[in-house]
Amino acid sequence: HDTPLILPSLLAADWSKVAAEVKRAEEVGVQWLHLDVMDGAFVDNISFGPQMVQTVRKCTDMYLDVHLMIHRPDHFLERFLHAGADNITIHVEARYDTSVIETLRRIRAAGKHAGIALHPDTPFEAAIPYAHEIDLLLVMTVVPGFGGQPFMEKQTMPKLAAARDYRDAHGLKYHLEVDGGIYTNTAPIAKANGANLFVCGTSFYGPADTPQAMAELTACVA
Ligand code: DX5
Ligand code: ZN
Repeated sequence: HDTPLILPSLLAADWSKVAAEVKRAEEVGVQWLHLDVMDGAFVDNISFGPQMVQTVRKCTDMYLDVHLMIHRPDHFLERFLHAGADNITIHVEARYDTSVIETLRRIRAAGKHAGIALHPDTPFEAAIPYAHEIDLLLVMTVVPGFGGQPFMEKQTMPKLAAARDYRDAHGLKYHLEVDGGIYTNTAPIAKANGANLFVCGTSFYGPADTPQAMAELTACVA
């Protein structure tokens, strides 16, 4: 949990050429790709589902970090596992047929990594019951649903620091991921508060010069 990584979010890519957009990340040394699944109910937007995850899986051996912004993630879990996700992150605020803890255990029982995500309004304390059952904690730095929103520094950085302090005080090892509004000016702030995984949608897929964008993002969190 101490190696900083840049995770491009496919949400910001050009979906008319998904395979090429996946390669564009792979070619500049990306190790983890972030896939944003939205159901039109948990968030006010609809993106893609397991079929897209499977499509991406066929294009690359990169680690696939799947962020489920959906209700009933436990109901849909097997489909995302089968599609080739390496990490599955679920929101504590979502509705479950079973429970958050049971869902985390099922992900790990399948041999995959499990994460939980916190909406900007959700305090760190909501994650404490799961702290021993996760590989990753995602602190949302925008209200989930859309790319291109501004980084919510004041509302989220104290929470991120609390998540880091709790982890270190308890000898835990979860990654700390930030997602939303991450650019070269905001990523260092998140790093200073404990983040090591930086989801970059617009800042990675926006610029035409991808090698330069990747170099700048990598350098600012090194
Ligand atoms: C927000 C998504 C993010 C989003 C980030 O709901 O979870 O991953 O794509 O996009 P940018 O980097 O453009 O803020
Ligand atoms: Zn995301």
